[in-house]
Amino acid sequence: MKTSDHRLLRRRDLLCTGALASLGLAPVRASARAAITLRFSHVVAEETPKGLAANRFKVLLEQRSEGRIAVQVFPNSQLYGDRDEMQALQLGAVDLVAPSLSKFGRIGLPEFELFDLPFTFDSLTQVRRITQGPLGQRLFEGLTRQGLIGLGYFDNGFKQMSANRPLLAPANFAGLRMRVQPSGVISAQMRALGAQPVTLGFSETRQALASGVVDGTENPVSNFWTQGMHLVQRHLSLTDHGYLGYAVVTNQRLWQHLSPNDRKLVQQALQDALTFANDIADRQNDQALQALRASHATQIHLLTPAQRDQLRQAVRPVQRHLAKRIGAHWLDQLQQAL
Ligand code: LMR
Repeated sequence: MKTSDHRLLRRRDLLCTGALASLGLAPVRASARAAITLRFSHVVAEETPKGLAANRFKVLLEQRSEGRIAVQVFPNSQLYGDRDEMQALQLGAVDLVAPSLSKFGRIGLPEFELFDLPFTFDSLTQVRRITQGPLGQRLFEGLTRQGLIGLGYFDNGFKQMSANRPLLAPANFAGLRMRVQPSGVISAQMRALGAQPVTLGFSETRQALASGVVDGTENPVSNFWTQGMHLVQRHLSLTDHGYLGYAVVTNQRLWQHLSPNDRKLVQQALQDALTFANDIADRQNDQALQALRASHATQIHLLTPAQRDQLRQAVRPVQRHLAKRIGAHWLDQLQQAL
């Protein structure tokens, strides 16, 4: 096992103990009756679609297993951040993660960047034709090569662009350093707009915006608001240019360790939690937008259809860029499914 692997395992033990100790609890299992404890790590605030989904899964599974299976949720990159959550999962240092679909290219699965293609989905209904159809399952098949198992997809919503100037036309992006997730498609999107993509972890983004390391970024409003980005970004343009969604992933070792009955309990609790998350995702983003408007901290810009079309035209080359990297057959399957 590599030194970095040991570091991840050691960090998990320290932080688990720390997290429980900070709650005034001795480092014991989340529930003394628990025969199994599942550790669920993610990078966003609790008041977001993903944060609420993780907590809902915890409540449902602990109730339905009558406490025999406990779930410890570690939000906001407390246990692992973008850079190490997948490796931690592959090592078994954590049992469940729910990364953005933009973060699978980095582990050798660039086909997941189909979801990052700008101006491809006009609605969440269209997205669900992929995530709840054969193409979504085909994408999950690639996870087995990495010793992982995809358990389900769910939404956050559509991304908006922010900076310290209005972003209404490609010319407005010229020379901006834009924080992006580790996705070739999103980097190509920013370059096509004339900006310079800068890949940073989600937990580093607010500080990087505050210090001027980057000039702007993109995210759904629920992330923009809950991370306090409105305090360091003077303009938010409601571009709805791209989709942000998630996949819940576990490792094969844990899955084989669970009894068939416990796997069924986990899968059902997760499906119900993801359905709940999809039901509330729109509302979460709407509520964040309302709060943002009320804060008057950031100027919010709507785009005219002509302005959105100009952005759409500017990023058209991104599709060809992805087809070259993953094969045109993936793009054909996407178009057929839509
Ligand atoms: C990001 O890194 O911007 C998002 O993936 C964060 C998240 O998981 O919603």
